[in-house]
Amino acid sequence: MREQEFMDKLSETRRFIIEKVNIEPQMGVILGSGLGGFVDLIEDKVVIPYQEIPNFPVSTVEGHKGQLVFGKVLGKTVVAMQGRFHFYEGYSMQSVTFPVRVMQVLGVSGLIVTNAAGGINPAYRPGDLILIKDHINMMGDNPLRGANLSNLGPRFPDLSEGYDLEWRQKALTIAREVGIHPQEGVYAAMSGPSYESPAEIRFLRTIGADLVGMSTVPEVIIANHGGMRVLGISCVTNMAAGILSQRLSHAEVMETAERIEKQFVRFVQALVKGLA
Ligand code: HPA
Repeated sequence: MREQEFMDKLSETRRFIIEKVNIEPQMGVILGSGLGGFVDLIEDKVVIPYQEIPNFPVSTVEGHKGQLVFGKVLGKTVVAMQGRFHFYEGYSMQSVTFPVRVMQVLGVSGLIVTNAAGGINPAYRPGDLILIKDHINMMGDNPLRGANLSNLGPRFPDLSEGYDLEWRQKALTIAREVGIHPQEGVYAAMSGPSYESPAEIRFLRTIGADLVGMSTVPEVIIANHGGMRVLGISCVTNMAAGILSQRLSHAEVMETAERIEKQFVRFVQALVKGLA
């Protein structure tokens, strides 16, 4: 897509949204698999299904609702993505990250990104919430590939604090206040949709990854390009392939995500209040 065409689409989407929604979101929240319960805490809600939003891709995967939810959480204005777009579904990197661009042009200055991930670090247990401190992009693509949209950010954005240090420190304090003691970790993004092989997991462990998943990195790259601060949280839904002598299933991933959902939702609520 040409630059001007993309900017025009973005403006069209923005106009559609600001006609329906009269709050200006301060904070964006991307809700991962089975973690959508956060939207129940949003007050004065305006819900827009993705199908209704011009230029939005449409989500297909099980456990993903597919709507933008605008409103207030403990007095802070938010826009939450209930359901995200995955590279493995066949979308381009540009489509996967389009909603983050929309957040950017709506004036969002901070983003909380969540996901379900496999635990590689043997100190993790299924059900742990981990603060992402850095990432490794193993997806074989980058959402910024192509002409730079110089109105939206720099050609070569710095990712040395892709996950804002001050926010991570605040998040640790906030976590303790809600009774959680998260560890920090490096998230490796694979394109999926097959889960990793045990050899791939040994490789990822060797290169410094603590967690593995199939999302988040494209959105975080775009958020950084657009000048947003980012906080990332993974819910360890399973130990990665070969770490335990047991097979992986999407059912296990969803079960763990559901088991942890209440705690997770409380944490994100406290984060929105404390960081926005
Ligand atoms: N691998 C990749 N993505 C995942 C996993 C995993 O083990 N668990 C949840 N998402």
